Amino acid sequence: MKRKDSTVVGLILVTLLISFITWFQYTINSKQLRPQQSQEPIPVVFPKPFELHKPKKNSEKFLSYLPHSGFHNQRIELENALLLATYLNRTLLVPQVYLASPAMPWLRYEKLHERLLFQTKNGLSHCIDLDSNQLPLPSECLNNFRWTNVPWTFFYNMTELSKQVPIVFRPGLDYEWLYSSFNLKEDDIYFFKDMSPYEYQIHDDRDTDLPLDRFNYRIDLSTLEEIDHRVLHFGSMFGSYRILAETEEHTEVLKKIRSSMIFRNPVLSGAAERIVNQLGGANNFVGMHVRVGDGIFKLRASILVDDIFHQLVNKFTDLTVEQVTEYEGGVEQHNLDRTESTEYEIKLRSFHPVDETANYTKPITVDHQGNNNNFTKQPNIASRLQCQQGDEITNRFRNTVVYIATDAPDPRNHPLLSKIFKVFPCTFILSDFINELNDIKQLQVVEERVKLESYLIPMVDAMISAHGHTFLGTPHSTFTSYIERQLHPVYTGKQVQVMGLLDYLESMKA
Ligand SMILES: *[C@@H]1O[C@H](CO)[C@@H](O)[C@H](O)[C@H]1NC(C)=O
Ligand SMILES: *[C@@H]1O[C@H](CO)[C@@H](O)[C@H](O)[C@H]1NC(C)=O
Ligand SMILES: *[C@@H]1O[C@H](CO)[C@@H](O)[C@H](O)[C@H]1NC(C)=O
Ligand SMILES: *[C@@H]1O[C@H](CO)[C@@H](O)[C@H](O)[C@H]1NC(C)=O
Repeated sequence: MKRKDSTVVGLILVTLLISFITWFQYTINSKQLRPQQSQEPIPVVFPKPFELHKPKKNSEKFLSYLPHSGFHNQRIELENALLLATYLNRTLLVPQVYLASPAMPWLRYEKLHERLLFQTKNGLSHCIDLDSNQLPLPSECLNNFRWTNVPWTFFYNMTELSKQVPIVFRPGLDYEWLYSSFNLKEDDIYFFKDMSPYEYQIHDDRDTDLPLDRFNYRIDLSTLEEIDHRVLHFGSMFGSYRILAETEEHTEVLKKIRSSMIFRNPVLSGAAERIVNQLGGANNFVGMHVRVGDGIFKLRASILVDDIFHQLVNKFTDLTVEQVTEYEGGVEQHNLDRTESTEYEIKLRSFHPVDETANYTKPITVDHQGNNNNFTKQPNIASRLQCQQGDEITNRFRNTVVYIATDAPDPRNHPLLSKIFKVFPCTFILSDFINELNDIKQLQVVEERVKLESYLIPMVDAMISAHGHTFLGTPHSTFTSYIERQLHPVYTGKQVQVMGLLDYLESMKA
C-alpha cells in the first residue's frame, strides 16, 4: 500500500512538474513572441489657426487653394502658393497635409472640394477606440486608419517663412470658416475653378514670352493684382513651374521659400542623423534614391538601376569592361536590364505609351576620367560597419560606403540591385538600422489613433541618402528632385537650387 501511495504521490508530483514547465515555457515564449510593448505614442502637435499671424478681420486679403494627391504633390502646391501669395501680398491660408493610401487624385474644382469636405471623421469617434489590427472592423470604420491630416508644421518650421508671407492655418476646407473668421460674404471670394489638371500657368514677367509647357493658358500676375476680392480661391496649385519666378527679385523669393522647406521634424531628423553618423557622417558616403515600386518607375526600373550602377562604377572603381561585365552577370543579362519590363501590365503601358523609337540599349563601357583611384574615402569604416566581404577585386572598394534609399521590397535580395551589392561590399539600406526607427513607430495622430510610420519611413530613408557627398536619384521622381534641389544641398552645407529660365526650357525637352 505504502508503495502504491508513493507512486501516486510521485505521479502527481511529475504531473505538477510537467505542468509547471509547460506553464513556464509558455510564459517565456509569450513574452518573447509578443511584440515589444509599444511605448507611449508621440503625438502630432497641431498649431492654432492664428498661431503665426493674426489677420485684420475686416480688411486683410487672402489666398487659398485645394490640396490633392500625394505628399510631394501637396508640397509643390504649397511652394507655388507661398510664391504667389508673396507676389500678391496676400496672407496664405494653408490647408493641412492629407496623408492617405491611396492618395486622393486631382479632380476638377467642385468635385475636389466636395471630396475634401467628405473626408471627415466627424461622427466616427467610436472607430478610434477600436484596434485597427482587430478584424473585422465595422464598415464605416474601414477608412479611419487609411487616411489622416497632419499640419505642415509637423514637417517644416514655418516661423521665418511667415515673416515673408503671413500664414494662417486653415483647419478645414469649408467656406463657413472663412466667412465667420474674416467677416466675409460669398461675393468676397474670387474663384479660379480649374477644369483640367494643368489648366493655367502664372507668368510674373509681362515682357517675356516663355512657352507654356504642359499648361493650357497663361495668366499674367498683373491680371491677378487687379482682382480686389478679399479672397482669391484656387483649386489645384500643382505643377512644377506653375508659378514662374522670372525676375531676379522673384528668384530670390523662391530661394527663400525653398530654403525653409527642409524637413525639420526632430524625430525624423534624429533618426536620420543617427544613421548618417553610423555611415561615417554627412558628405562621407554615396547616397541613392532608387524608386522601382510603381508606375513608370517599375517599367524602367532595371534601366534606372543600370544607369546608376555604371555611374558608380565609373566614379568609384577602376574596374575594366571585362570585370564589369562579369559582375553584371554577362552581356546578355546587361542587355536584358536595358529593356523595359515585359511583365508589366498593358494598362500601365497605355497610360505611359511606350515610345517605339526609344532605344535604351547601350554597350558596357567604363569611363574612369576624374576618378583618382583612391577608394579609401573612409579608412577602416568597413570593419567598423561590419560590411560584407567582397572578393579580391571588390574588397578594394570596401571603404566606399553606399546607401540605397528604395521602395524595392527586400532590397538586399532584390535581383535588380544585386550588382551594386556585389561591387560595393559596404552598401547599406534602411532595414540595416531598424533599431534606430523605434520612435518613428510611435509617432501618431493620437486623436484618431492613426500611426504615421508608413508615410514617414520613405522620408527618413530619403533624408539619409540626401546626406551623401554624391547623390544619385530617379529621373522624373518628384521626391528625387526635392532631394536634388533642396535636401541634398542643405544637408551637405550648400545652397538650395532654384532653376533659371534655361532649366525651365530644358525641362520641357525631357
Ligand atoms: C501688404 O499687405 C499689408 C496688409 O494687408 C499692407 O499693410 C501692406 O501695405 C501691403 N504692402 C504692399 C507693398 O502693398
Ligand atoms: C523655428 O524657427 C524659429 C526661428 O527661425 C526658432 O526661433 C524656433 O525655435 C524654431 N522652432 C522649432 C520648433 O524648432
Ligand atoms: C539600339 O542602339 C544600339 C546602339 O546603341 C544598336 O546597336 C541597336 O541596333 C539599336 N536597336 C534598335 C532596335 O534600334
Ligand atoms: C586617399 O584618401 C584618404 C582619405 O580621404 C587620404 O587620407 C589618403 O591620403 C588618400 N590617399 C592617396 C594616395 O591619395
